[in-house]
Amino acid sequence: MGRRRRRSRPCAATAAAAAILLVAVSCCAPFAAAAPRPKHARISGNVGDVLEDDPVGRLKVYVYEMPRKYNLNLLAKDSRCLSHMFAAEIFMHQFLLTSPVRTLDPEEADWFYTPAYATCDLTPQGFPLPFRAPRIMRSAVHYVATTWPYWNRTDGADHFFLAPHDFGACFHYQEERAIERGILPVLRRATLVQTFGQRNHVCLQEGSITIPPYANPHKMQTHLINPATPRSIFVYFRGLFYDMGNDPEGGYYARGARAAVWENFKDNPLFDISTEHPATYYEDMQRAIFCLCPLGWAPWSPRLVEAVVFGCIPVIIADDIVLPFSDAIPWEQISVFVAEADVPRLDSILASIPLDDVLRKQRLLANPAMKQAVLFHQPARPGDAFHQILNGLARKLPHPMGVFLKAGEKVLDWNQGLDSDLMPW
Ligand SMILES: *[C@@H]1O[C@H](CO)[C@@H](O)[C@H](O)[C@H]1NC(C)=O
Repeated sequence: MGRRRRRSRPCAATAAAAAILLVAVSCCAPFAAAAPRPKHARISGNVGDVLEDDPVGRLKVYVYEMPRKYNLNLLAKDSRCLSHMFAAEIFMHQFLLTSPVRTLDPEEADWFYTPAYATCDLTPQGFPLPFRAPRIMRSAVHYVATTWPYWNRTDGADHFFLAPHDFGACFHYQEERAIERGILPVLRRATLVQTFGQRNHVCLQEGSITIPPYANPHKMQTHLINPATPRSIFVYFRGLFYDMGNDPEGGYYARGARAAVWENFKDNPLFDISTEHPATYYEDMQRAIFCLCPLGWAPWSPRLVEAVVFGCIPVIIADDIVLPFSDAIPWEQISVFVAEADVPRLDSILASIPLDDVLRKQRLLANPAMKQAVLFHQPARPGDAFHQILNGLARKLPHPMGVFLKAGEKVLDWNQGLDSDLMPW
């Protein structure tokens, strides 16, 4: 990939200078006290309208009581599960236990939820063990199917599962291996609530709900700076460009997109990009106009959440990505999409965005509803990511008739899948 020399860029410089004058709009609102709810104008006429829908009264969820080995014991063994980017599976459980949509009567439930922390069995380095997650899930489903009568009525089609692993219920961080496994067979009729989203991919099945990864709201709050601070950085990115350990030849990691960012723009003064992760990372995002959100091993990363929270316009470089709550969050209005093949032109693409468009995106990003929707607050707040998940589930009701099986009818094949996944857990 030919590296381009620096050249003078008059229009880029102008746009950058103008943009630097932009003042950040408040990003403190999503952290404001839960009540009273901040009053603000609805973003009428676009999909952002449904961000404020209230799911209460529109669905009832039955939470299966599982043996502790499926959830609490895993968490007790490794508390890192509460802070890593897969933590939504734990917080969703905690949220549902006290949520007004919970019902204690399974006969009136619209949805059944199985709290199994499949991404909480970690390596010493803190990564989910890819061969454990499918066994945990398969074992949990077996427990549910043999303990209560509800699974067998639908083979899981009115059940939902949190699967915030890199490639969702394919449960592997490497795409090839994830594709090889495919979605765990026993989960193929269930609704999967997952961070992974890419169109036409075997690891995203029809009817799934794509959610934001977990990023600690409290930690982000402690890094808020004066919202009047000018945004003096044009493009900001911190992270890997190459993954030498897992991709020594290059070109496979991030499908080469991150390498192209580095090779084309490492010397460009408009680009503040590096592998160094500074202590001021969150503050820097609040001083930046554009924050790069390129794919890594998977299309998604916590940067997307951080950019929205800190009002930095996300520059999404991940072809065919399916974004979190894309039926509710107007991603096309708050972010910039750049095709992976266009990375070498990233500088002119961003510099040629009219100032009015930049301002409009910043204003939309400043809307507290937008930030709230990507955060898993403790305790939950109206409109936050928990509520967006419930809204997504409510929108799938009533269940179509095909969901319910005839007595004795079976659709799933319990013996399908990798031999290693069929081992007991
Ligand atoms: C559900 O069906 C399986 C066989 O497919 C059976 O082993 C299990 O006992 C059934 N569950 C209940 C609660 O009857």
